[in-house]
Amino acid sequence: MKIAVYGANGYQGKLVLTELARRGIETVLAGRDIARLEKAASAVGLPGTERRVADTSDHEALVNAFRGCDGVINCAGPFTSSGEAVVRAAIATGCHYVDTSGEQLYVKKVFDTFASEARNAGVTVVPAANDGCVPVDLMAHLLADRLEPVEEIISTHVVVGGGGMSRGSLRSVVETIDAIKAGGLTYDDGGWRSGTPARHAAITLPGRSEATPVMAFPVSEVVTIPRHIRVRHVQGLTEAALADRLNTPLTPEIIESLPEGPDEDSRRTQRFTYVLDATGTDGRRARGIVQGPDTYGTTAVIAVESARRLIADPADPGVLAPAQAYDPTAFLDFLIPHGIQWTIEDAPAT
Ligand SMILES: NC(=O)c1ccc[n+]([C@@H]2O[C@H](COP(=O)([O-])OP(=O)(O)OC[C@H]3O[C@@H](n4cnc5c(N)ncnc54)[C@H](OP(=O)(O)O)[C@@H]3O)[C@@H](O)[C@H]2O)c1
Repeated sequence: MKIAVYGANGYQGKLVLTELARRGIETVLAGRDIARLEKAASAVGLPGTERRVADTSDHEALVNAFRGCDGVINCAGPFTSSGEAVVRAAIATGCHYVDTSGEQLYVKKVFDTFASEARNAGVTVVPAANDGCVPVDLMAHLLADRLEPVEEIISTHVVVGGGGMSRGSLRSVVETIDAIKAGGLTYDDGGWRSGTPARHAAITLPGRSEATPVMAFPVSEVVTIPRHIRVRHVQGLTEAALADRLNTPLTPEIIESLPEGPDEDSRRTQRFTYVLDATGTDGRRARGIVQGPDTYGTTAVIAVESARRLIADPADPGVLAPAQAYDPTAFLDFLIPHGIQWTIEDAPAT
């Protein structure tokens, strides 16, 4: 099994390289700058690993970079501006594709643009193979098994500690700031709409006695969940306290002056909690919770396992949500030794 990592020299790319090496998977480092790729190869202790240079403006170069590989993990963000070229080249080369994107509109665009191309090529594409979308989408499927037909699914993301975002994540935030401020897409009655107000003003989060004020937030699973669940409304939320931080001006110069991303000690102190509240059309309710440390390290584990499973245990070709590509319980249980806990419990009916 051979996997190409595009954007291999970035902060997330290097974590993915380290995880591929730990799993003993043959790797090709791909990106647009040979010197940066060489530096990354040395930094992660893989100085002899194959490097291939390709710019996203050069389809043939990308295809050549992926030739002979079974899969591509794309870590080159912001994805809104460069991601589609990498998906197109992976499909043209016959490589299964996953990426670490959290840019909701980009994730939707991959579904809208590449479904038949991927199907015709016999390739499976799973965008947003990250710490949030994969476990939450898988849990949503298990919740729906209990409740379907489902009236509403609300996914609330909270991350505390951890030394902040990487420079790449901040660039993704800047590139999509208007969509973030508008609360992103909400799924309502068969279609996606932007600008829908938060369906709830506050949510009681695990371990907190008081309800936390929340606001609408563009999580990727709003795009993936309705592809495998009969549901009327899906919305993402986060703590309303984030709104102030979104108004902090962030210029390219400010981002460049910051560290590449949180160091290992900071990452260890980080804790994410993703809460999924589902309500059946009959008023029955259930809650799924996934919690763990280190969003970037967890994303590396999830992106590698997502690509590995597509190659070792092929899913249907096309652009798929995580729960369409993987067995939900098996994948969630795979994450437990990596410090991730997941639970599903019934909640009082409304
Ligand atoms: N849960 C989530 O949503 C989640 C979790 C983890 C990561 N992510 C996303 O992962 C992405 C990567 O983050 P990071 O911290 O690794 O960023 P980073 O350190 O800035 O690295 C970005 C990588 O992408 C490459 N790149 C950027 N623009 C490109 C373009 N137009 N053409 C070709 N290559 C390009 C860069 O190449 P150069 O060095 O040559 O510029 C670099 O290799 C971000 O978009 C982040 O939001 C999301």
